[in-house]
Amino acid sequence: MNLDNFIDPEKWAFQQWGDTTVDRCDKLEYIGKSLLKMVEVPTTAFDQLQKRATVTENKNFFLRNIWYYALPGSRLKPGAMIAKTLLAEPVLLARSISGKVFALRDICPHRAVPLTCGRFDGHEIECGYHGWRFDHTGRCTAIPSLVEGQDLDFSRFCVKQYLVREVQGNIWIYMAADDKVVPPSPEMDIPEIPYFGSQSYKLVQTALFPCFIDHAVVGLMDPTHSPYVHRAWWWRENPKLVEEVKPFDPSPYGFTMRRHQIVNVPRVYGILGGVPETEIVFHLPSIRIERLSTERYTVCNLTAVTPLTETETEVTTTLYWDAPWLTAIKPIIQPLARAFLNQDRDVVVKQQLGLKHNPTLLLIKDADTQARWYYQLKAEFARATAEGRPFVNPVKETVLRWQC
Ligand code: FES
Ligand SMILES: [Fe+2]
Repeated sequence: MNLDNFIDPEKWAFQQWGDTTVDRCDKLEYIGKSLLKMVEVPTTAFDQLQKRATVTENKNFFLRNIWYYALPGSRLKPGAMIAKTLLAEPVLLARSISGKVFALRDICPHRAVPLTCGRFDGHEIECGYHGWRFDHTGRCTAIPSLVEGQDLDFSRFCVKQYLVREVQGNIWIYMAADDKVVPPSPEMDIPEIPYFGSQSYKLVQTALFPCFIDHAVVGLMDPTHSPYVHRAWWWRENPKLVEEVKPFDPSPYGFTMRRHQIVNVPRVYGILGGVPETEIVFHLPSIRIERLSTERYTVCNLTAVTPLTETETEVTTTLYWDAPWLTAIKPIIQPLARAFLNQDRDVVVKQQLGLKHNPTLLLIKDADTQARWYYQLKAEFARATAEGRPFVNPVKETVLRWQC
């Protein structure tokens, strides 16, 4: 990947025009309109813009040396293993009889059969082709075809091991930049769901989005799609747009929408009683944690976006709550949470129809500032990692305003 070719569209527009007297967002809108109408842009500049748009479109990349959400812990029972593609790598995730989760590259070093096609006895994996065995660290422990006197150094046949951690019910995987097990830097930790300590989630939903990770993440932090995408009697039915004012602060590897009272309360939140306060944290690579609280109850929502391939992304939503009666009505909450996630997926499916034609995309004013921050955070993390220097958060304390 050439980082110089990954450009935040707003910054790119700014660089192209080089005019510091015009507001950056205005310039972007101007360029956007110009591209659509093909007016008012000098020919050479227009050609450059088109060329760069094509280059940028091909520069999808995944962040490395960072924790990704792998899967909900409850989906991996003791003694079970599952195959999963993560960042285009085949991964085996397994839980030993003792409950410990581990992950290995899902390719046998002998003749490449996926290890998940073999057997797992709760302790070791046995390849389904010639029976080679591997422990939870990926060490080869047995090659059945060998007879007495045929000594081999088994350490030559190790399978790559991934670091995994199970926290608050969720399994996370550290995707390093190379084949070695690289310990994560201490400050790059898994973001914690506040208030719920070591508790697990009460509800989980997963959906497959047919897109590159960036489109799913940008949708996750898009504040103004709600009246159009999430139109439902239990959320906001035929909503009237109102102005919202949201204060933001930089926070570790991301930003935080500071705690404030919700202005436009979705109907379903009414079950918590009173007008809830909300705080929303975004953390690289693709994690959003919302904490909703009223005087009596707290609900947290972790939404994590995991790239499977360049064209498939998994979005997982988990809910935590402290109201016992919410557990009692879980059969009602579950389909609503499902419908909400499906609405986000369905609009991404439609977006793919347009993206096939490589259009230039726009980031407009305050409503798209979080998306702009995402691209800036991602680029800065990639550059800092490549240069071996500390990450410098590009987000500054800001108040954003939009109508939704
Ligand atoms: S391919 Fe796995 S043991 Fe031969
Ligand atoms: Fe949404």
